[in-house]
Amino acid sequence: QPTRLWGGRFAAGPAQALAALSRSVHFDWRLAPFDLAQTRAHARVLRRADLLTEPELARVEEAIDVLASEVAAGTLAPQPDDEDVHTAIERELLNRLGPLGGKLRAGRSRNDQVATDFRLYLRAQARILVALVADLQEALLEQAEQHAASPAPGFTHLQHAQPVAFGHELAKHVHALARDVDRLRDWDDRAATSPLGAGALAGSSLPLDPEAAAADLGFVRAAENSLDAVSDRDFVAEFLFCTAMLGVHLSRLGEEYCLWASTEFGWVRLDDAFATGSSIMPQKKNPDAAELVRGKSGRLIGHLTGMLATLKGMPFAYNRDLQEDKEPVFDTVDQLVLVLPAITGMVATSTFDTERMAAAAPLGFALATDVAEWLVRQGVAFRDAHEIAGACVQACERRGVDLPDLSDDDLAAISTHLTPQVRTVLSVQGALDARSALGGTAPARVREQLSRLRPRTEEA
Ligand code: ARG
Repeated sequence: QPTRLWGGRFAAGPAQALAALSRSVHFDWRLAPFDLAQTRAHARVLRRADLLTEPELARVEEAIDVLASEVAAGTLAPQPDDEDVHTAIERELLNRLGPLGGKLRAGRSRNDQVATDFRLYLRAQARILVALVADLQEALLEQAEQHAASPAPGFTHLQHAQPVAFGHELAKHVHALARDVDRLRDWDDRAATSPLGAGALAGSSLPLDPEAAAADLGFVRAAENSLDAVSDRDFVAEFLFCTAMLGVHLSRLGEEYCLWASTEFGWVRLDDAFATGSSIMPQKKNPDAAELVRGKSGRLIGHLTGMLATLKGMPFAYNRDLQEDKEPVFDTVDQLVLVLPAITGMVATSTFDTERMAAAAPLGFALATDVAEWLVRQGVAFRDAHEIAGACVQACERRGVDLPDLSDDDLAAISTHLTPQVRTVLSVQGALDARSALGGTAPARVREQLSRLRPRTEEA
């Protein structure tokens, strides 16, 4: 007979089909370290309530120490017919402590247990993810510093728009990732509420101390409403939003790498260690890490929407639907732990063809805005300046030449405002340097921006 945490009122155990459906231990075993920590905190609360003696508490804590080290070493595994992690841990405690092991569930339900374990688990994972994101930010910052002054084409609508410093282009990703880190830290503050003590739904008639248990487990506070405590999965949905957003940011970085690595762009060369080949085409060198992160972001978004759909319309307090909250989160964490180091490695080891980017920077009449803004400085209304610069582009397109190729006479024929002085702004370097207000792409500004970003990533 398998150990069950319930059964007194049943004539027999569940049918095989129900037991198989009900079982979660094959995935929720990863909560075991947190279930043990929680059991320890609860045992201390039972001791203070005089529901355990001092020697009993000492034996319990000793057994938990042993179990925790066995879990960490991977030498302790659940039995295939344990219903869930809570059942498996109680079975082990009963094995090792005899009847004393049966005292520890007093005042607890798996409903508050699982919510507590899951918050502990997620808070620990968030810290791991933040550290991995910081590594990626570091790799991006290093590349951005190297290319703080390298001119490159800047795009809108994927069409050449205005030249930018390539370091500015790379640094934008560091800002997006910084918001992801901020969001996870901010999330942690709300996730730091302990549900332990809520019991099944109404609290306990035993003299427990939810605040002491909360403090013991590193939570900031204990839940003020037991019904909310066992049914709230906002912390899960919000975590999945934070990770989906991070996934979207990684996907957009990945997409840029795919473009940049194409023959048409040819801006980036991937290190051999971070590229893959083809089983038929011997010449291929593919940006698979970038593509996989782009693909996996779809999966992370799916986990968020799936979780919200599970929660929608579910009655309060605990319902078994809530067991469905774990696998999407575990998968999200696993995918990010896989993807982040690969993307960091790809970024850190890639080399950029700065000459090619510089040569492409002025193409597509990317200095037309500079012509218009030069005219504004001569007193021309922007509306007219825009028309005049547009006419220059039209003249160039007709003749198949570029803006600097227009002669003085060509310029004068377009507008009397277009004196030969306008040539002073027809340089990519000038266009970059001129955009020197806060947030602009002037290399000096980019360097300041990077030095402000660095301390933020270092504290992560
Ligand atoms: N394994 C369940 C979960 O993951 C916790 C058990 C709650 N079961 C119950 N019958 N109340 O949510």
